[in-house]
Amino acid sequence: MYTLHNLTELNLALLPRLAEIHMGDRGLLSKLGYPFVLRYFEIAYKDRRVIGVYAQDDDSGELIGYGIASPQPESLTSQLTDDKKWFIKQIIKLFFTRPHVFIQLIVSSITIKGQMDNKANAIECVYFSVDPKYRGQKIGRTLQKELMDRARISGYKIIFASIETWNKASLSATLANGFTIVKTFREGIYHRHRLESKL
Ligand SMILES: CC(C)(COP(=O)(O)OP(=O)(O)OC[C@H]1O[C@@H](n2cnc3c(N)ncnc32)[C@H](O)[C@@H]1OP(=O)(O)O)[C@@H](O)C(=O)NCCC(=O)NCCS
Repeated sequence: MYTLHNLTELNLALLPRLAEIHMGDRGLLSKLGYPFVLRYFEIAYKDRRVIGVYAQDDDSGELIGYGIASPQPESLTSQLTDDKKWFIKQIIKLFFTRPHVFIQLIVSSITIKGQMDNKANAIECVYFSVDPKYRGQKIGRTLQKELMDRARISGYKIIFASIETWNKASLSATLANGFTIVKTFREGIYHRHRLESKL
């Protein structure tokens, strides 16, 4: 058995564990590397506009998975540059060690701009991930549904998501939660579906 909690209730000592679970995602953020992922979740944790939930095992207390939604997903990534010294150091390292990821970062930041079309009352399901040990038990689907319920209660009317076309588990969960595919697009090396659902 597990319980869903609000992200704001997470013991900060568990934030690195949450970042580790995220590293199992094959998306761009995890390709940037663990320091970026941890910093991203520190930002999301503090951002009052983020709707976040995590699942915790009732017996062991182990973190099982999480989901986050934001009305301004690009504002989370842009805060990665706030600590200029840290950011420049990480970017230089990325440029020399994984130049293809560096190029993808530029392509993605251009593509993502305007994706929400500044629609009022709209929110994006940014990420949801489940520890590999706990996958296939409908926990991912439940986490995303919880985000949708909380977003609706907060007054949002529509929710968006972008999912890589190969990601069958994420797509099945998202379609089962009532989203529909509205378009399919290229974002550098990524081939993604854009999905939306009324709340
Ligand atoms: C996507 C993810 C969160 C799903 O979590 P989960 O708890 O394993 O998924 P669920 O048990 O809720 O299953 C959801 C659906 O996916 C299907 N599914 C689960 N694993 C699957 C797999 N490996 N291949 C195909 N379908 C799969 C289930 O049958 C279910 O479909 P249904 O609702 O039609 O029965 C999990 O696979 C994950 O953490 N992946 C890595 C991170 C990631 O890709 N996140 C999404 C980014 S957009």
